[in-house]
Amino acid sequence: MGIPRPFDSVRYTVGRELVLDLLDEAPDRPPVAERPGYQQFTKELRAHADRHLDGTPGYFLLSGLDHLTEDQARRFAPLASAALGDLLPQDGRGTLLREVRDRGVELGEGLTGRYSDTRHGGNLHTDSPHRPGTVPDCFALYCVHQAASGGSLVLVDLRDLTARLGDRPDLLKSLEQPVHFDCRDDTPGAPRTVVRPVLQDTGGGTYRAHYLREYIEIGHGHESVTPLTAEQVEAFDALDALLADPALQQTDRLREHEMIFIDNRAVLHGRTPFTDGPVEAAKRLMLRTWITFR
Ligand SMILES: [Fe+2]
Repeated sequence: MGIPRPFDSVRYTVGRELVLDLLDEAPDRPPVAERPGYQQFTKELRAHADRHLDGTPGYFLLSGLDHLTEDQARRFAPLASAALGDLLPQDGRGTLLREVRDRGVELGEGLTGRYSDTRHGGNLHTDSPHRPGTVPDCFALYCVHQAASGGSLVLVDLRDLTARLGDRPDLLKSLEQPVHFDCRDDTPGAPRTVVRPVLQDTGGGTYRAHYLREYIEIGHGHESVTPLTAEQVEAFDALDALLADPALQQTDRLREHEMIFIDNRAVLHGRTPFTDGPVEAAKRLMLRTWITFR
């Protein structure tokens, strides 16, 4: 018996027959949404979401998917995600299933360089604080391949952060001020920045987070945007120090053909840096969806 890992208590096996039934595209089969198996699967997934996303620890995993080919995984990931809500586009081209892998770029590079295109760790954040419109409530990662080394997920519960900031109400107030996130979009006509607070008060002393510091710094570097104040910088430094505190981090590694669903409202996430191997099977590849709850 090894030491229990954070993912151990929230890992659920999906039956092989059920998955194959969902992926069956024979012309005589009814649409997936009308199949009893999918309806049951949806019910179970929503129960996991109620318990672990609305509740704790803010994430859960599906396993038992090792028998899927990569092609089948690319069909399964959006199907499973759609059981929880509506899929949101992840770029200006409307991509609903995005590959997260090392594209050899740097975070914040050029007009479009994004965290999900790098192999670096750190920079804990929420997903999509920078896209106009609806921010995903949840996102999912389907692990097709793991890296040769590194690439563990690092998760921090927002409630732990705000509790630790409780003795600095001035910093909490500062984090509730709207800031400009660079949109990371070079589509002609697209806005350069989107404005939202890092901490959005959702009532009763709870918050929803929107955070990726690099995008905020790029956003406030635009000529038309006022620079960040000293108070804002102090608040981000305090937040980053807490995000880097191992006592607040849950760190674990997805196995190949596991899919994790992470609450994007109240969990900040990042990863440890990773190094890919020379062959495709040793290059980290995650398939990501962004989900808004109905
Ligand atoms: Fe992310």
